[in-house]
Amino acid sequence: MAEKGRVCVTGAGGFLGSWVVKFLLSRGYEVHGTVRDPGHEKNAHLKKLEHAALNLHLFKADLLDYDSLCAAIAGCKGVFHVASPVPLGTVSNPEVELIEPAASGTHNVLKACSKEKVHKVVVVSSISAVYKNPNWPKNQVMDEMCWSDKEYCKEIKNFYCLSKTLAESQALEYAKQNGLNIVTVCPGLVLGPILQPTINFSSLVLINLLKEGFESLENKICIIVDVRDVAEALLLAYEKPEAEGRYICLAYTIRTKDLIEKLRIMYPDYNYPKNFEEIMAEETYSSEKLQKLGWKYRPLEETLSDSVRSYQEAGILDKH
Ligand SMILES: NC(=O)c1ccc[n+]([C@@H]2O[C@H](COP(=O)([O-])OP(=O)(O)OC[C@H]3O[C@@H](n4cnc5c(N)ncnc54)[C@H](OP(=O)(O)O)[C@@H]3O)[C@@H](O)[C@H]2O)c1
Repeated sequence: MAEKGRVCVTGAGGFLGSWVVKFLLSRGYEVHGTVRDPGHEKNAHLKKLEHAALNLHLFKADLLDYDSLCAAIAGCKGVFHVASPVPLGTVSNPEVELIEPAASGTHNVLKACSKEKVHKVVVVSSISAVYKNPNWPKNQVMDEMCWSDKEYCKEIKNFYCLSKTLAESQALEYAKQNGLNIVTVCPGLVLGPILQPTINFSSLVLINLLKEGFESLENKICIIVDVRDVAEALLLAYEKPEAEGRYICLAYTIRTKDLIEKLRIMYPDYNYPKNFEEIMAEETYSSEKLQKLGWKYRPLEETLSDSVRSYQEAGILDKH
């Protein structure tokens, strides 16, 4: 067995999952990665990661199939629960496509962890489980005490936020009820280089800003964090015995217009949004708890340039 022991990563082939697998392998862990379709071309990159030949084992598992999760988690002392649906567009049946796999899926993972006597579980939540809260005091920084309001998420039909809020709150409740060691991490919009050959939602957000030439966009606050820094945060949450509860994980809050200006300086020739509609947006967020655990993040320019280079190399974005 690899020197650091055996851990499982759900959603191993996705954008964030691939980086988590890569970092774990490079740190000497043996990894059980769950994917829904091990033979599919979209997961082929995993086998090419350094140390994968010896230390990566892929398991076919669906979040709604408890037995498949037990088989993947058996023998692991830690689990990184990354898998959750992140649709590229609107979904026609949110209950089936989002809520069930996120909430019941997380419950299945945790039940499998209890059965297999896992020591620690790190659950990937989202800033979406934090910030949709109309009752949070206007001038108060949003920290780990702030939860998205489930009724409000339903009212505004933001079912992704609802799915992540349900999954995370139920995970922390499960920890209390069953004495399982669970830590949750809530990243902002995750950007950075892609390892997988397909486009995921958050990368598409940046790609669209670079090439769609939108007539007008709301000048919203973007809450950005690098995928490599999120993967580091997950490892930190796993490896530090003192880690507990939830951790907000974000590096930069920047208005869309300012982000575009930054990109325009770096890459003058893409087809950027033309106008911005000013909106009230004053929320502020804090990753102080995670930073106190030892977390650091890289400069935004590095995230942007490595993202753009990887899209170009994958043939998703023209070179300019
Ligand atoms: N990207 C962001 O900006 C962001 C921000 C905050 C939090 N997050 C969270 O980070 C995690 C990873 O997201 P990502 O950005 O890496 O997106 P992604 O590339 O779309 O990855 C999602 C992963 O979930 C898996 N999955 C979805 N439904 C599943 C099911 N029913 N059974 C088994 N696996 C299932 C997918 O597997 P298949 O390949 O088989 O579809 C895929 O591996 C998610 O929990 C997401 O909510 C992401």
